[in-house]
Amino acid sequence: MTEHHAKLEAVGIARRYIDAAASVRASRRWWDADADDYQAAHGAFLGAADFVWCPERLREAEAHLLGDVAGQRILEVGCGAAMCSRWLATAGARPVALDVSAGMLRHARSFEAATGITVPLVQADAEFLPFATASFDIAFTAFGAVPFVADSARLMREVARVLRPGGQWVFAVTHPIRWIFRDDPGLAGLIAETSYFDRSPYVEFDATGEPTYVEHHRTLGDRIRELVAAGFRLEDLIEPEWPADLTDEWGQWSPMRGAIFPGTAIYVCALPAV
Ligand SMILES: C[S@@+](CC[C@H](N)C(=O)[O-])C[C@H]1O[C@@H](n2cnc3c(N)ncnc32)[C@H](O)[C@@H]1O
Repeated sequence: MTEHHAKLEAVGIARRYIDAAASVRASRRWWDADADDYQAAHGAFLGAADFVWCPERLREAEAHLLGDVAGQRILEVGCGAAMCSRWLATAGARPVALDVSAGMLRHARSFEAATGITVPLVQADAEFLPFATASFDIAFTAFGAVPFVADSARLMREVARVLRPGGQWVFAVTHPIRWIFRDDPGLAGLIAETSYFDRSPYVEFDATGEPTYVEHHRTLGDRIRELVAAGFRLEDLIEPEWPADLTDEWGQWSPMRGAIFPGTAIYVCALPAV
């Protein structure tokens, strides 16, 4: 929910309905245009083969949210430059990294050349996963795809379809409480000004009215409801606390706001074993 005006010549912001196809079109355009800047701004934080879940710096190496990954077939949804998948490959897993943006995947490919760690890369929309039923043991994402699709219930059903019975789905998104606040790391970001219950998407658009950036809000209840409808059991909901020694900001994430309320929600889910 940040303001991205300049890059794609957005002229305005609105909370308004936008359908699934227009959302994907805007995301592909936005992430292609932003890929180099995203990497320049966050590449050092994210690393080349590291698995950081969120700006609060929770690492998979310490959190073990995916369990024992050695030998597991793992799908990363909305992988960006795929640093998490490369870390998983070094831990003995068999990851596949998927993203809708060719620009983000270009960075994944250049990291492969730099690190010598190769993972299969797939360009696709997460609402239509190009994989056979039950072809993965685990799926996950750190802030990829989920908030950017109009039909996240469909995305949940797709993830459930490609997981085997008993498979795990773990995903990090911006904590839904953040949607009530202005998107600002400073004092202005403590002002609650938008209804938590307003589900209309956040849209930036250009002079022709074409959306240039889109995010979709789901309340906590909405999200749990769509997970349960897709067949998942929610095993944990992690709200990482801001570490006392972390001074770095990431967009609207800051030490000041992090000390007061959560910025990230990590949903830990699983399918029934049979
Ligand atoms: C905030 S970035 C996160 C990337 C990476 N997980 C990271 O931690 O840096 C969001 C990613 O989601 C991807 N994305 C957005 N909409 C998507 C969709 N419909 N299907 C697949 N990926 C999508 C974007 O291209 C982008 O790479």
